[in-house]
Amino acid sequence: MKKLLAPSILSSDFARLGEEVSSIKKAGADWIHVDVMDGHFVPNISLGIPVVEALGKADPPPMDIHLMIENPDYFAEKFIDAGGDAVQGITIQYETCKLLYSTMSRIKARGVSVGLALNPTTPLTVLEEVFDYLDMILVMTVEPGFPGQKFIQSMVPKVKRLREIIDGSEHKPLIEVDGGIKLDNIRLVADAGADVIVSGSGIFGTPDYAETISQMRSEIESS
Ligand code: DX5
Ligand code: ZN
Repeated sequence: MKKLLAPSILSSDFARLGEEVSSIKKAGADWIHVDVMDGHFVPNISLGIPVVEALGKADPPPMDIHLMIENPDYFAEKFIDAGGDAVQGITIQYETCKLLYSTMSRIKARGVSVGLALNPTTPLTVLEEVFDYLDMILVMTVEPGFPGQKFIQSMVPKVKRLREIIDGSEHKPLIEVDGGIKLDNIRLVADAGADVIVSGSGIFGTPDYAETISQMRSEIESS
């Protein structure tokens, strides 16, 4: 399968959000990654339901919503309502989801893909009981909370192990990798087996998004 690039809108210029959405779409983003942080699960507050609603109306690439919030059980569907048809998927964090099975089922019942994110220190073994229900597994390669952090190298073997598990299974969820990914390490992540690669500051922090995305794509394609 073609590997997908999902720039994280969190690193864009929020004063020009609509323009940033159209620039990143024109630049060739496959999805936009939308990082929602609540100041409880992570020590940062980013954007919430009204912004997701505005994004949904801005003709975005498919929205890949990453909920780093307490009580995703309650909020997941509110984000689907806000983003409307533009919502491709909702990813919830394993560490904060108390009613994982029912929340996954309700997301899927809305016709939206469901992802489960694992913090760096959360082992892959937690996937065992939910693996067959997941459309995507997100391996965090930084502690969630802030853009622009340093990629944790020791997460590469974790991504490789997950790739092996999926290759040996009948069910094939996508692997998404998120945190600290830039042009100089994107190939490492692609080689390890990522299907969807998130990059925030690595794209929005560069002057020419289209140029960065095309350079990233050639790194990925030659992986
Ligand atoms: C981290 C977020 C990431 C992050 C990506 O908490 O989930 O999506 O903002 O930004 P960079 O690529 O700058 O690490
Ligand atoms: Zn994210």
